[in-house]
Amino acid sequence: MNSCISFILDQKIIQIDFSKELKLTPTTTVLNYLRSLPNHKGVKEGCAEGDCGACTVVIAERDGKNKIHYRAVNSCLILLPKLHGKWLITVENIKNSDGSLHPVQQAMVEYHGSQCGFCTSGFIMSMFALYKSLLPNTRTVIEDALTGNLCRCTGYQPIIEAAEYALQKRKPDHFSQIEKEIISNLKRIVRESIKIKTERQKYFMPVTVTELLNIKNQNPDSIIINGATDIALRITKKHEPIPSIIDTLQIEELHVIRKSPDHLYCGSAVTLNQLKDVSKDWFPAIYEACSVFGSKQIREMATIGGNLATASPIGDLPPVLAAYNTEVVIVSANDARMIPVDQFICGYRRTSLKNGEIIKGIKIPKPVNESIIKFYKVSKRKDLDISTVSAAFRLTLDKNRKINEIKIIFGGMAEMIKHAEKTEKFLLGKIWTRETIEQAMPILRSEFTPISDARSGKEFRSIAARNLLMKFYDELADT
Ligand SMILES: Cc1cc2nc3c(=O)[nH]c(=O)nc-3n(C[C@H](O)[C@H](O)[C@H](O)COP(=O)(O)OP(=O)(O)OC[C@H]3O[C@@H](n4cnc5c(N)ncnc54)[C@H](O)[C@@H]3O)c2cc1C
Ligand code: FES
Ligand code: FES
Repeated sequence: MNSCISFILDQKIIQIDFSKELKLTPTTTVLNYLRSLPNHKGVKEGCAEGDCGACTVVIAERDGKNKIHYRAVNSCLILLPKLHGKWLITVENIKNSDGSLHPVQQAMVEYHGSQCGFCTSGFIMSMFALYKSLLPNTRTVIEDALTGNLCRCTGYQPIIEAAEYALQKRKPDHFSQIEKEIISNLKRIVRESIKIKTERQKYFMPVTVTELLNIKNQNPDSIIINGATDIALRITKKHEPIPSIIDTLQIEELHVIRKSPDHLYCGSAVTLNQLKDVSKDWFPAIYEACSVFGSKQIREMATIGGNLATASPIGDLPPVLAAYNTEVVIVSANDARMIPVDQFICGYRRTSLKNGEIIKGIKIPKPVNESIIKFYKVSKRKDLDISTVSAAFRLTLDKNRKINEIKIIFGGMAEMIKHAEKTEKFLLGKIWTRETIEQAMPILRSEFTPISDARSGKEFRSIAARNLLMKFYDELADT
């Protein structure tokens, strides 16, 4: 049994053999691992739940073109085995080899981007990942890269200006010089089945779906993790010693993105950031939903399969995927089936997955007719916040503005995402006018009894849902 993981840190290949480790377990987070080392304490713990960005590090890996791809991530949510085959970069690695500051660090100094400094290393790492990307130097791109980082004393303007300045001066840095050597070292780390067994825990990293399903059959109580942005909270917040985990990290079939003439297929381990990039042209409402999903660091880890399987009533993907008639591809050892997203989710945090089944991927048909599809999210703040209410709409009108097709799906209004079935039925076949929408309002009001909770009162939710339908109408009225 291979119980060893390998990754690069400080330009060296590090091996951790969990069978011999006394202090580290497979559910130790990368943050706690780094904080246990004498020379990597620049990384900070603020919230330990992905909300503050103080723990941001960069994980770099080979992309399909044999180049290095750099991603800023929250180390508080990453379990140590997830580093296998990757290059871990911390703030201590950023400075130039002659000891001078990296351009992103120098820019923070020149633009006075730091006061107490607690958030600073996290900001530097997010800026560094951006510096190493091919993304343009625009305010939108910079804000998106920094939304996962909170600062409580400096104020964001100087930090944004520092990022703008650093990007203006973007040129090859000392990382560019060592990338070839890093790539050849990464190639030495073999993608192979890993089974870590300690006294209290088992952690499997299979390389194929078949192997995953066999492991799951033999260990039915195992939890499958994709990005672990949900499951890691059980470790960091509830201190649960999860006894058995199957990690999909190494299963290439689950990371596949395939565009066919009539649909997009994404494996269940495709991240929200990848989905955002690939949906821009064909599925603008999915792009919109991904744009307001968590922070960039969260989206680098959070996956489609994880979002669907949690079946949260306020999960952002299910309503918008349902509006696009998405089907969930499910596999087990002996069978494969497809089911529409809105039937896949069947209750409060309940899915129609049977024992031994997993989500393999999703198939999103390209809209063929004149359908208009929109997604709206109401939350207390625009970024890095979960939905209070969300809505996805799909509408097809004929040339006389008669409603030929209407789908209205809400999140946050019931124990699961739910169609406004009576409202849909009322609207079908009517003429799309403001008056029709106003007539539909009492029906919409009557068919949901939302709850009050810490995020909002039930009355707010009810009003917000009706207003979202009116907003949808108003936006289309101008077109
Ligand atoms: C700071 C923060 C912000 C967030 N913001 C948002 C947000 O804006 N919108 C939103 O909707 N969510 C948000 N989330 C929740 C979370 O990030 C998402 O639900 C995410 O998509 C989960 O994906 P994951 O890969 O990390 O799931 P994981 O934690 O890996 O898994 C989640 C669940 O799915 C199951 N699972 C995973 N893969 C499979 C599979 N292939 N087959 C069967 N079951 C599987 C797991 O067993 C587990 O029960 C946020 C979370 C955090 C910590
Ligand atoms: S410690 Fe706050 S995001 Fe990790
Ligand atoms: S400088 Fe103090 S929190 Fe940002």
